Amino acid sequence: MRKKIVAGNWKMNKTFSEAEDLVFGIADELASDRPEDVEVVICPPALYLEMTSDVATENNFSCGAQNISEHEAGAYTGEISAAMIASAGASYVIAGHSERRSFYGETDALIARKVKQALKHGLIPIYCCGEVLEQRERNLHFEVVGQQITEALSGLTAEEFSNVVIAYEPVWAIGTGQTASPQQAQEMHAYIREMAGKIFGKEAAAETTILYGGSCNASNARELFANPDVDGGLIGGASLKAGDFVKIINSF
Ligand code: 13P
Repeated sequence: MRKKIVAGNWKMNKTFSEAEDLVFGIADELASDRPEDVEVVICPPALYLEMTSDVATENNFSCGAQNISEHEAGAYTGEISAAMIASAGASYVIAGHSERRSFYGETDALIARKVKQALKHGLIPIYCCGEVLEQRERNLHFEVVGQQITEALSGLTAEEFSNVVIAYEPVWAIGTGQTASPQQAQEMHAYIREMAGKIFGKEAAAETTILYGGSCNASNARELFANPDVDGGLIGGASLKAGDFVKIINSF
């Protein structure tokens, strides 16, 4: 079902006690100020999932992991499986973040396996796609994102796809302060919805939640979220301060 979602991706930040302060801080701020129809998801480092999910359950938000193994279980030192993530109380998992693609060589074929694994264990994958600056400058951004969507998601059934959230994160906008303009976000989100429609049918595409990520903050979230195909945000840096994150949630 198409939902409004604001998700915070903490990336590799915060010690345990700092993470507790931030989760409780967000819970406190949400208690006084919060739109009813927006789902809030916090994606801390995996170590903090159980703590985060305990607070989330009490305070009506959700939590998610930042990565997932493509394997079921076994001798994969350092990896974390879908079943483990689900058993720690998470309901979402980010798959295919551009940092995983660029620093750890993740391909769409691998990410497709991660998405499948998440769905198998009842987790909602937040599938990330987006072009790098050079691709945008060469006007290849639609082609690149179209190919990412096709390669990673077209092996799903329509029913599986109905449980996938997509995040458009232009790589040139991540952590740079150079946010996509509302028009750039809207036109790519509309294109992603069109692509999804070609693969899974128009109705399924209309129900898909598509988030924007990349230097989204308390000052620009409102104009981004005002677009018809932008259903929320995947927030990095600005999700590390409770006040800023909750302001973004209240930008709807
Ligand atoms: P920033 O909001 O820090 O640009 O990061 C976006 C992001 O990568 C979220 O996954």
